[in-house]
Amino acid sequence: MNVLLVAGARPNFMKIAPIYRASLACRSVRCSIVHTGQHYDREMSGTFFEELEIPQPRYSLNAGSGSHAAQTATVMVAFEEVCLKERPDLVLVVGDVNSTLACSIVAKKCGIEVAHVEAGLRSFDLAMPEEINRMVTDAISDHFFVTEESATGNLLKEGKPAARIHEVGHVMVDNLFHQVERLSRQDVARLDGFHLKEKAHPYLFLTLHRPSNVDCRETFGGIAQALNQLAQSRTIFFPVHPRTAKMMQEHGVHLAERVVLLPPLGYREALFLWKDAEAVLTDSGGLQEETTALGIPCVTIRENTERPITVEIGSNVLAGTSPQGILAGFQESLAKKERARVPPLWDGRASERIWKVLTEGEGGANIS
Ligand code: UD1
Repeated sequence: MNVLLVAGARPNFMKIAPIYRASLACRSVRCSIVHTGQHYDREMSGTFFEELEIPQPRYSLNAGSGSHAAQTATVMVAFEEVCLKERPDLVLVVGDVNSTLACSIVAKKCGIEVAHVEAGLRSFDLAMPEEINRMVTDAISDHFFVTEESATGNLLKEGKPAARIHEVGHVMVDNLFHQVERLSRQDVARLDGFHLKEKAHPYLFLTLHRPSNVDCRETFGGIAQALNQLAQSRTIFFPVHPRTAKMMQEHGVHLAERVVLLPPLGYREALFLWKDAEAVLTDSGGLQEETTALGIPCVTIRENTERPITVEIGSNVLAGTSPQGILAGFQESLAKKERARVPPLWDGRASERIWKVLTEGEGGANIS
């Protein structure tokens, strides 16, 4: 089976890594990585291939930044050429970024089957570009690999056949467990340059990049107010996404001295910091799940989440974006920590299960 495995943006690389590694154990599978180039800075993309132990992509499409339409269109044109040349049996896409959408549409129109990993998640918020990407990708996918029960429910409601929906666990957790075991002093040597050698306990770890949070001056200002209050009693480590850095300057956002601004971090650098944090504050999708897998309190700075299981059984709290909401959410997430559980099948073996389904045939949901 000839498979093209697509990645484009930072949150994709950690998902394709375990899928690629597990493909090596399947003799009938030839899996090639396609990097769309949606993210292209060394810090946003380059470092990931080395530290996630995946080979350089067979195809690099170098799409780069642009408006949503321009970026999606550039990926589509370049990926069509690859599909016509390779004629793969399957295109495997992950997550919900513009590259996921672009490549699934192209593959389907070339008559190639599409498998979507992380299918069925819904925030029901169409103001999020990722929600549109998820819905369109799922509308045309042939195989749905889901991370939590709510996603199965969403797909069934949308009329997808149960036999095509597979609860396999979470590939990002596969990667997380793999990386935690391998984390070494050498991986985080660069952080010493930021005087983080001795971590300032207790500390918080923060990420913030959603357009709805950082593009609006008032919203970003309110979030900054909550952060500055938390920073009165603890250090906050904040690797800053390129979009966020730009908006901080544009809006003149002031953050207290104890909010330590860092450049975008490699996977292991970020893991080194957040795994021992008192809590993580984030608007990322993936971190809500990764913190759940390691039992770290998480405060999600958003009004909704497409990953409800992290709130239902994990320590994640949906805090909203107001200063009061964030401060209350912080207290609540600490209090929830003791009761938190890890969702079923988030055990580090999701990638194996995906290949089992793809090579041995459909088995319906709940493959263990
Ligand atoms: C994308 C994903 C989002 C994901 C995020 C993680 C979509 C719709 N959004 O958002 O779901 O959570 O990645 O980072 O696909 N830039 C750089 N260097 C880079 C890449 C981007 O400087 O390597 C800057 C550019 O100014 C660019 C901006 O960041 O215009 C936004 O990049 P883009 O890929 O369009 O979206 P993200 O906000 O990163």
